[in-house]
Amino acid sequence: AWAQNRVVVNADLAKDTISRHIYGHFAEHLGRCIYGGFYVGEDSDIPNTNGMRNDVVAALKKMGVPNLRWPGGCFADTYHWKDGIGPKEDRPSMINIFWGGTTEDNSFGTHEFMELCQQLGAEPFINGNLGSGTVQEMVEWVEYLNHPGGAPMAKLRSENGREQPWNVQFFGIGNENWGCGGDMTAEYYADVYKRYNNYIRDYGGPRLFRLPSTANSADYHWTETLMKNVPLHTMSGLGFHHYSVINWSDKGSATNFSTEEYFQTMEKALQMEELIQRHGAIMDRYDPKKRLAMVVDEWGGWYDVEPGTNPGFLYQQNTMRDAMIAGATLNIFNNHADRVRLANIAQTVNVLQAVALTDGNKMLLTPTYHVFEMYNVHHDALMLPLTVETANFELNGRALPAVSASASKDQSGKIHITLTNIDPTKKQEVPINLRGMKASKVSGRVLASGKIQDYNTFDQPNKVQPTEFKGAKLKGETLTVSMPPASVVVLELQ
Ligand code: AHR
Repeated sequence: AWAQNRVVVNADLAKDTISRHIYGHFAEHLGRCIYGGFYVGEDSDIPNTNGMRNDVVAALKKMGVPNLRWPGGCFADTYHWKDGIGPKEDRPSMINIFWGGTTEDNSFGTHEFMELCQQLGAEPFINGNLGSGTVQEMVEWVEYLNHPGGAPMAKLRSENGREQPWNVQFFGIGNENWGCGGDMTAEYYADVYKRYNNYIRDYGGPRLFRLPSTANSADYHWTETLMKNVPLHTMSGLGFHHYSVINWSDKGSATNFSTEEYFQTMEKALQMEELIQRHGAIMDRYDPKKRLAMVVDEWGGWYDVEPGTNPGFLYQQNTMRDAMIAGATLNIFNNHADRVRLANIAQTVNVLQAVALTDGNKMLLTPTYHVFEMYNVHHDALMLPLTVETANFELNGRALPAVSASASKDQSGKIHITLTNIDPTKKQEVPINLRGMKASKVSGRVLASGKIQDYNTFDQPNKVQPTEFKGAKLKGETLTVSMPPASVVVLELQ
């Protein structure tokens, strides 16, 4: 770290596109994410379109949901897709063994998920069941989704009201199979993956993006084993899940936390950089041309559930701390656009680091929502490589880099720079040297609040929201940005 901040944006060195899919979301059959969060049913008093909440869908469309991962998570390896198609009254029930032992009535299944994706304008990302399902079941699901016609599953699909194939691209072959997905070793899973994958077919639409179960955070052995044991052309990506959790047995309150806890959460969040570099170094040895995408299909902050709520439902509030996790993490993803090409924050509505929370017919947008909305200018834009020298965020003799940044140029030629200052007590002056570009005008928005513990409630839904940013001054090739403590800024240069 440096005593002073300095950012250099190298517009002349741009070559990689930031895939919009790193801005993906995740919706599991868990607590109130699907039921109550997205889906209330056609007969609900809550305004809906074919059962999907209008308020949630409209807000998420504005933010942008490039892809949505479903039905889990741990739930995916217990899910039998055929129980979720056909007339609802005939669909069998099951117990959601991982999440609260609730009874799942399967009223939200494949057709409902595809309807949700269509309303959101999101690409579906479906995670198949390798842990407790059969090879045949997985093969038939892909056939049901993607076969154009004539096959038994395409026939069943059209009997259920859908003639055309959906041409689903993103497909996960198991989830966390080192844990809830069957407690397998990497070596064993690699063999099982090959067996399942061997029978899955492409049916003329876009080629299936085949994703094996990704690693647990810093489990580099998992990545190494899959890269070594599975033929590379049979996988489209590989990666890891990483949660910013202080301590799995004592995660701490989502809202009532100390600066020390905030520091520890941010330390975990910023570990994303090292994880990408180290998993990436392994992938590079086998795949130097970076054909495989790195996929971070679960990430975000994880705290104790809100007092009085079901511990199996993972319902937590969302503060400025979460905005800082999101801003810093998305900057890291952008800067690794050459390898990181798919990611999903966990989980969209009412679960973990959600972008929206609901209570009956009410909905609020969280600080995390606002970061995703501010950063959507980077979707599919050309990444502008930058270097960052930053002051420290210091606490009790330890230090983290205070400032992070990323930049891109969109198709209309506008340049966007996103910055975070994670230090909750200090402002940052950030001089930015704009190499290889000409700009005459700067505007921006900032997300900041009095305290890092601030959050939106159903009574005060707009306590934390972005405002116009007036702290950027442009002079020739230098842009000087004055960032408030604990803030996220997006700048537009023309
Ligand atoms: O997102 C919650 C859970 O975290 C997912 O179901 C699982 O994949 C992970 O352990």
